[in-house]
Amino acid sequence: MSDSATSGAAPAARPRVLSGIQPTADSYTLGNYLGAVRQWVALQDEFEPFFFIADLHALTVEQDPKVLRERTYVAVAQLLAAGVDPERSAIFVQSHLPEHAELGWIMQTITGFGEARRMTQFKDKSAKGGEGAASVGLFAYPMLMAADILLYRPQYVPVGEDQRQHLELARDLAGRFNSRYKKTFRLPEPYILKETAKIYDLQDPTSKMSKSASSPNGLVSLLDDPKVTAKKIRSAVTDSGSEVRYDPEEKPGVSNLLTIYSALTGESFETLEQKYAGSGYGAFKGDLAEVMVEFVTPFRDRTLALMADKAHLDRVLADGAGKARAVASRTLADAYDRVGLVPAAR
Ligand code: TYM
Repeated sequence: MSDSATSGAAPAARPRVLSGIQPTADSYTLGNYLGAVRQWVALQDEFEPFFFIADLHALTVEQDPKVLRERTYVAVAQLLAAGVDPERSAIFVQSHLPEHAELGWIMQTITGFGEARRMTQFKDKSAKGGEGAASVGLFAYPMLMAADILLYRPQYVPVGEDQRQHLELARDLAGRFNSRYKKTFRLPEPYILKETAKIYDLQDPTSKMSKSASSPNGLVSLLDDPKVTAKKIRSAVTDSGSEVRYDPEEKPGVSNLLTIYSALTGESFETLEQKYAGSGYGAFKGDLAEVMVEFVTPFRDRTLALMADKAHLDRVLADGAGKARAVASRTLADAYDRVGLVPAAR
């Protein structure tokens, strides 16, 4: 199947989208899903999609090899369970394409040390043990991410708000490379939906919901027992007063729950505010707990069924890697040529 999108010289039939997710947890969080993966599913129709599991990025902090392998599979299974369709999307594992690490090196050579040090994720992640204890890989993380993106010359990169700074660096590096050498990369645009750009912790609604949350009660893991998830929603922190109203400044807890409710049901904030006018937080949280259970139960069942057939997942990944390679190898060859590397004789 060689269409214009993979043949390089001719313009792509459909603009591309690309995004990645790290295999660093046993389950996606509700933040991963609402902030990113849901958009991946939606964008498949209009765009030519490339979605991958960022296993090389996961290595920037210490991983147990066995656990990493299992989490990589469960990450793939969850993409399929969420509705990413291997017929339409290239689904692959980052390490299956050596082009990522190779272009990552080129990106490192055009990134300033000070520029890399300003990345807030590096500052946050290295804060715990001190900069001296952080790996060089963690420092170089954003340059690998820039390579991930630029290899595919995508129009959009659908991510949550926490990735915005990395995307800005990717754009800066693309522009720098293009002006220093020759126009090679497309400047990617972030695709960050305002409503779900940042899902907050259920117990601390001023912090991002994250795998590294201080209390597990604030974190919704999609593969948890649905009963556990329902309980977490029912015991989510709400604000003073009793009015269900979207007001992120005054009511961060309730507003976060409204965001989740609205995203999962398609009902607007106004509709939900009217529905719960005068009924207090209890009824609202009870209903949202049910909405969550209805969402996570089939998602979890589909994921577990997919995990029972790893050979199928391997086939999906091999197919995805093939589609990805057709694009990535060409871009890398262009980049190598433009910086002046001598091509290997065949
Ligand atoms: P990762 O694995 O941390 O997260 C995957 C996606 O989930 C989004 N996200 C959230 N969105 C809203 N609210 C939240 N609480 C929340 N938590 C996570 C993230 O913004 C992300 O979109 N560096 C990336 C992986 C990556 C990548 C790439 C992404 C590697 N190369 C190239 C795009 C393009 C990361 O660590 O995502």
